[in-house]
Amino acid sequence: MSYGLLKGKRGIIFGALDENSIAWKTAERVHEEGASFVLTNAPIAMRMGTINQLAEKTGSTIIPADATSLEDLEHLVKESVKVLGGKIDFVLHSIGMSVNVRKGRAYTDQKYDWTAKGWDVSAGSFHKVMQVLYKQDAMREWGSIVALSYMAAQRVFPDYNDMADNKAFLESIARSFGYFFGRDKNVRVNTISQSPTPTTAGKGVKGFDGFISYAEKMSPLGNASALDCANYTVSLFSDLTRKVTLQNLFHDGGFSNMGVSDAVMQVFEEE
Ligand SMILES: NC(=O)c1ccc[n+]([C@@H]2O[C@H](COP(=O)([O-])OP(=O)(O)OC[C@H]3O[C@@H](n4cnc5c(N)ncnc54)[C@H](O)[C@@H]3O)[C@@H](O)[C@H]2O)c1
Repeated sequence: MSYGLLKGKRGIIFGALDENSIAWKTAERVHEEGASFVLTNAPIAMRMGTINQLAEKTGSTIIPADATSLEDLEHLVKESVKVLGGKIDFVLHSIGMSVNVRKGRAYTDQKYDWTAKGWDVSAGSFHKVMQVLYKQDAMREWGSIVALSYMAAQRVFPDYNDMADNKAFLESIARSFGYFFGRDKNVRVNTISQSPTPTTAGKGVKGFDGFISYAEKMSPLGNASALDCANYTVSLFSDLTRKVTLQNLFHDGGFSNMGVSDAVMQVFEEE
């Protein structure tokens, strides 16, 4: 169902790898709501994923960029403004990767150049994206920038490993840069703290199946899906949320404020 909430808006969407990606669902919903956008991902992901199908379906241009490379980002933003025919109204940063997680290295045994790489991809890239947008003055007034986070930034989820620290950093960047973007350009910056979601990045976390079932049982509304997240993001890109900024917005069916639920209690009572 479309509400025409993003009619005429222009955006850049990072991180659509395959049809499970949160960014993929967001691109589909944003398209339905009437926006046009550029799709971008790391050059290597272009070869692995199926982003071409999404571009075809949504009539969008793909401009590859490694989100850790300032040079790539400068090119991406300049070209996006050209291709879309004007300044950018919305940006989705939907990027995360930890080499320590990928290679099964424990939090207590990190290899620090992997830690640094994961930080750069998952958190530093958000600063870089915003700095390039800011310096090129590429955002339209009352635009909206969103990045995706996870509650391990506030609470302990042992298997989330160094991604927990990356997410804490990401959320802090949203606040810090959001101040300058708000003050100087009337642009808002927020993070969405999303439920566990079965995507390539999500399923890469050890114990993901247990993790997602636990969250499902704990949340009064159940886990938020990738499509739910896409819908929430549409609202944050729309003109209906113009004064929401510097926030980390939990989108998790209520999980973040729960202590225990009947469904979880039941599991222990059965023992
Ligand atoms: N899946 C979950 O459980 C969950 C929960 C909360 C938050 N998130 C966050 O949502 C976001 C999207 O992840 P997803 O779950 O849709 O998984 P996904 O694997 O589909 O997306 C991750 C994307 O990051 C991209 N990426 C990696 N390195 C990059 C680089 N150097 N430059 C540009 N792009 C790069 C990948 O190509 C991929 O498209 C991430 O920030 C993730 O941490 C996911």
